[in-house]
Parts: sequence; C-alpha cells; structure tokens
Amino acid sequence: MTARVAHLDIGITVRRMDFRFKDIPRYWAGNDPYFTHLLNALSATFPEGERFFVHSVRQMQDQITDPLLKRQVSAFIGQEAMHAREHSHYNDYAIQHGIDLGFIETFIQKRLTFIKGKFPAERQLAITCALEHFTAILAEQMLTEPDIYNSFDESMQKLWLWHAVEESEHKAVAFDVYQALVGDYRIRIRAMAITTFFFMMHTTWFQARLLKADGKLFDIPMWLKGLDRMWGRKGHFRKLIPSYLKYYRRDFHPWQHDNRAVLEQWKKALKLDEASAHQKVAVTAISTTPAVVADVVQTATPTKAPRARKLAALKLATQAKAAAPKKAVIPAKAAKSKAATLPPVKPRSLDKPANKVEGSQKPAQKPMRKPNPAN
Ligand SMILES: [Fe+2]
Ligand SMILES: [Fe+2]
Repeated sequence: MTARVAHLDIGITVRRMDFRFKDIPRYWAGNDPYFTHLLNALSATFPEGERFFVHSVRQMQDQITDPLLKRQVSAFIGQEAMHAREHSHYNDYAIQHGIDLGFIETFIQKRLTFIKGKFPAERQLAITCALEHFTAILAEQMLTEPDIYNSFDESMQKLWLWHAVEESEHKAVAFDVYQALVGDYRIRIRAMAITTFFFMMHTTWFQARLLKADGKLFDIPMWLKGLDRMWGRKGHFRKLIPSYLKYYRRDFHPWQHDNRAVLEQWKKALKLDEASAHQKVAVTAISTTPAVVADVVQTATPTKAPRARKLAALKLATQAKAAAPKKAVIPAKAAKSKAATLPPVKPRSLDKPANKVEGSQKPAQKPMRKPNPAN
C-alpha cells in the first residue's frame, strides 16, 4: 500500500487571462460534432461548478490553521474564479452559432443550490474533492495526449490547455482541506460514487440534447465512432479508469501521481508565467484582504444570466444557421500536420501575456516521497 503523500509546497499561480472566442468553427474539436458537444457540455457546467468549488472550500477556510494550506486555498479560489470567468466567455462562441448552453447552466445552478441548502459543509467539500479528481485526471490526459488537443481550434486549444495546467497545479488543495478538517473515508468515497453516477448521466444527457438540437441525435455512425473514441480499446475515458479507481484507496493522495515535470513543460510552451513583476500581487494578499477575494470572485460572475444568454442564443440561431459552414472548418490535413510529441505543440505565446493576479508560492523545498511505480 502506498503511503499518503503530505501536501506539497507546489507553486499555484493565479493568472488573469482574457480569452476571446470569435470566428470559432461550430465543431471546433476536429470538426467532430460528438466530441465538440461533449466538451461544450463540460464547459457549460464549469462556471457554476467552479463557483461551487470555491463556495465549498471557503465555508471551511476559517478552520484551516496550516499557513501553507491557507495560501494554497487562496490561490485555489483565485484560479477557480478565473476558470469560471473564462468559461463564461466561452458562451460567446455558442451564441454566435446559436448553440443553447443556457439550459445546462440553469440545470447545474439549480442542482448546486439544492446541494448547498441541504448538504452539510463536509459533504459539499467531499463532492468538490470528487469533482476535482475528475478534473485532475481529465487535465492530465489533455496535457499528455496530443491527439486530443491537436484537433482543437487554436483559441479553444489555449483555453483548455491553460485550464488543464491550473487544474493540475491545484489538484490536491480541496483534498488536503478535506483531510485536514474532515478526513472521513466513507463520506469521501460515497461522495465519489454518487458524483460519478450523476456526472456521467448528466454529461451524456447534455451532450445528447446539444446533438439533438443539431439534428444529429440519430446519427448512428457518429455515435459509434464517438463511443469508440471514448470507450473503445484505446478510448480516452477507458484509459482513465485505473486513475479514477485510485481515489477509492484509503491512502490515496492526488500527488501520488507526480506530474510536475509535464506542468513545467506546458507552462513554458504556453508562456504562462512570463508576466512582468509589477503585474503580480502576492498570494498572501488574497488571504488577508477580503476585498481582493471579492474582486476575483466578482470578476468570475457571468455578465449575463443563463436565461438572458439563452434568449440571446435563440435570437441568433436563425442567423447562425444560415451562416454555418457546411463542411469541415479545420481541414484534417492541417490538424494532422501539428506536432505529435511532447512538447506537444510548438511553443507559442498566448495572444496576450498571462497577467498574474497573485504570485506563485515558493518552489517545493522538500522532495516528495517517491511515488509508487504503479501510479
Ligand atoms: Fe477549474
Ligand atoms: Fe479545480
């Protein structure tokens, strides 16, 4: 049995990004409706989901005594708030194409409001830990499998890779808070089992509704190809099963899988940490100055309510339908011509340099315990 790894002094940097999603092809993931709508469905759950993660950790923030964990929680809140904000911008793409993601946001908002009202704080945190494990293993896959991101439209590629890097950076924060303040194994795994059921069911339902709106619900060849891509012998989801199951170990810790080397490669490739020093705010500021936290969280609030966005999407649907390209916007040859090994894409800067809201913490001082080779 692998010994649990204590929480690490890993650098967690909050970066203020400003993605814009104009002129994105409708099926921006390799001109594949199945995969694009799967990712659209996931993205639409993020703004409300990320705000729930922040809420569940902040509820217990005052009880944290470890100074390192306090700093990490502050950075976690800042990163998740930025993710919520940028995935709200994502909706601009959906509106341009008349794709209604509003029903997903409304649904998730209602479910999470119910959970916040009915469930005690430790169970809410256990749900966050479960979902953070999902995002961590999905992020790891995104960063290490070029056949996923190489087919993405460029702007979408940057968004998803940036998000994947930060999900990996903070993958253990909610878990460490849970272990420090709750630590109940049964609550943790029960939350994971239930969350898995609803996550799979809802994601499939959202994806099916998006495909139905495109008249592709009964496109059998598309479904067979998509299901094979996700669940076939080399399917993306299928490959995640061993990493997923590790969460059920009593001694599980997210950093038993040490992917810091991959993160460093990506931070360089995406030039995530090249903002000038004057743009940084010390991470401690966010712990001690409520106004800073409020500012970060507020900037993550979508500018339009889901309902308003739904109406905007419907209004533009007719125009978008007329303007929608009939054929692939990303030529298959162009996608294949991209690099296929790590560093997986030719290092290139983001359109705007990353603007750090808080500085990263010190690099790890203590070496972590040697990970289990099985991990
Ligand atoms: Fe996130
Ligand atoms: Fe996260």
